[in-house]
Amino acid sequence: MSIVILISGRGSNMQAIVEAGLPVTAVISNKPDAPGLAIASARGIPTSVVRDKDYGTREGFDAALAAEVARHAPTAVALAGFMRILTPRFVARYADRLVNIHPSLLPSFTGLKTHERALAAGVKVHGCTVHFVTPELDHGPIVAQAAVPVWTDDTPERLAARVLRQEHLLYPMALRWLLEGRLIVENGIVRVKDPNAHQAFFSDRP
Ligand code: GAR
Repeated sequence: MSIVILISGRGSNMQAIVEAGLPVTAVISNKPDAPGLAIASARGIPTSVVRDKDYGTREGFDAALAAEVARHAPTAVALAGFMRILTPRFVARYADRLVNIHPSLLPSFTGLKTHERALAAGVKVHGCTVHFVTPELDHGPIVAQAAVPVWTDDTPERLAARVLRQEHLLYPMALRWLLEGRLIVENGIVRVKDPNAHQAFFSDRP
């Protein structure tokens, strides 16, 4: 069993997955300067870069990325701050084992700047979602969610930090379920074969 993680930047979710003891066999970035690459290397995890800028088309980039991922023959592919929309072809190739983490309680706040938009909307809870990836951005069957309170004096940065702590707990938990074959998708709904599956709220200590 193995996981390939795709990143574009900081890599804190990737680090959380590695530190949770999950079998990460490679970290691949579309950005050569992604800070997460050094974090992975320092832990002895093979890294590689498939630069999106080197490819003229989305299809060309995705074909190269798919070939690089396939070298590792992973059980699961985890997008962790991977800021590219994947082609339907890539998504179909890894259907049922391609997951993403998004910093909102989907289906609310797809896309970017989720924390700013949550504050602007005046929501009282916010959070993060692990979901299977489908060709539509930030859609796909929801595997797990974690919620945090929104405080009246929150800033996007404070709210983001509170959500990120939950991301670091939620993503390893959801990936473990995936590797253990505990996720069943029926009509777009994920069922988890785990007696603790509904404990997706974590204590929120600063
Ligand atoms: C995370 O907050 C993740 O949820 C978000 O990017 C950040 C990456 O941080 N992903 C998305 O917005 C995807 N739509 P990290 O590189 O430190 O894990």
